[in-house]
Amino acid sequence: MFFLKAIYCRTVQAVLRLLRPFFPYREPKVFPSCANLAEVFQKEKIKSLLLVTDRGIIENGLVRPLEEILSKNGVTYTIYDKTQPNPTIENVEEARELYRQSNSQAIIAIGGGSSIDCAKAVGARVAHPEKPIEKMAGIFRVRRRLPTLMVIPTTAGTGSEVSPATVVSDRQKRIKHIIISFPLIPRYTVLDASLTYSLPPKLTASTGMDALTHAVEAYIGQSTTKETRRLALEATRLIFRNVHIAYIEGDNHEARENMLRGAYKAGLAFSKSYVGYIHAIAHSLSGRYDTPHGLANSVIMPYVLEAYGPIIHMKLKELGLAAGVCTEQDSEEKAAFKLIKAIRWLNTSMGLPDKLPGIKKEDIPLLARRAEKGANPLFPVPKLLTREELESFYYRIADWS
Ligand SMILES: NC(=O)c1ccc[n+]([C@@H]2O[C@H](COP(=O)([O-])OP(=O)(O)OC[C@H]3O[C@@H](n4cnc5c(N)ncnc54)[C@H](O)[C@@H]3O)[C@@H](O)[C@H]2O)c1
Ligand SMILES: [Fe+2]
Repeated sequence: MFFLKAIYCRTVQAVLRLLRPFFPYREPKVFPSCANLAEVFQKEKIKSLLLVTDRGIIENGLVRPLEEILSKNGVTYTIYDKTQPNPTIENVEEARELYRQSNSQAIIAIGGGSSIDCAKAVGARVAHPEKPIEKMAGIFRVRRRLPTLMVIPTTAGTGSEVSPATVVSDRQKRIKHIIISFPLIPRYTVLDASLTYSLPPKLTASTGMDALTHAVEAYIGQSTTKETRRLALEATRLIFRNVHIAYIEGDNHEARENMLRGAYKAGLAFSKSYVGYIHAIAHSLSGRYDTPHGLANSVIMPYVLEAYGPIIHMKLKELGLAAGVCTEQDSEEKAAFKLIKAIRWLNTSMGLPDKLPGIKKEDIPLLARRAEKGANPLFPVPKLLTREELESFYYRIADWS
């Protein structure tokens, strides 16, 4: 049975690899500052738009400069600021209603992955009013062009500013819907490191480790390209060298800028080469318990990398060299061990735990089933794991003390 499933998964992935050159991948136009968006308002004759964010972003004063730019350019705007971390279907529908009432022509998101994902999903619903969020889950189900989408990340983590994905929580079913479709790639992205200065150390750490997970999972998977391998290695180098500095010294401009660049490159890498079991397990936990995405990834990553075993040692050595934690002279096994140890050290040194509270024993079979369904057949994981192997991770990461 497992053998047949493996053949099925690998066949789906091979077909997607063959089709990849024909897919409409594109990159957003990247600006260094919100002020550059004036050019977009003029070019696209945008007079009114919906601004999607959350309370934390407003309270930190991050929206004010954008509001000034909008006003200066004669653009009226309606703010939706109720986005929750792990945005929900309710968030998306409320914001969509505001978009409709205000006759908006475009959408701007400012915030972390949650605000950006909420805005993407609003755009998808505007383009497909007949299709509820759950019907968009999966690949290529959003087929129409979205209203112009401009995004301004304030965390260096999710890569949502460049990816064709959005993740929306279904509070009733306690699952996350993952929607992957090319129209979701934002048209414009502002990468301004000063907007991330106020990100508290704990969130700097967990969102930074999310970005690292994107680079690592994209690199060790079986659907890499020369370009995505290069991007993943560059992202790993940038994140390893800067995340701890950004954690300690929030307004260190160079470290913040390198983190934003690293997260963006990691986002580009996983957009073409996907993620893997680390993300699938993280999504199962966030859906069920609302565990923050980056935190879940940071805890799970070392356990899953260890469990893959020798099959990924060579790739982990290459990542370890990029990270600067091993040498050419190290054997592949030793280098892999050093990288995993360095990831654990990064977590500990930034106050991230190595286990998660709140996992219920009786939920584990369901969580493992969901992780399996999330990963297979889409994610080109280095090695297919059985349901039992997936279950074992929840026992290992659960903090029942
Ligand atoms: N679409 C994708 O490709 C993709 C990839 C990975 C994760 N995600 C999704 O992204 C979401 C997580 O996003 P996130 O990790 O960026 O966190 P987030 O957007 O949930 O933000 C977390 C908290 O940080 C605060 N915050 C953000 N930036 C700040 C700043 N500069 N200063 C002060 N506070 C700030 C927010 O107010 C919020 O309270 C999850 O829903 C996850 O599923 C999406
Ligand atoms: Fe992620």
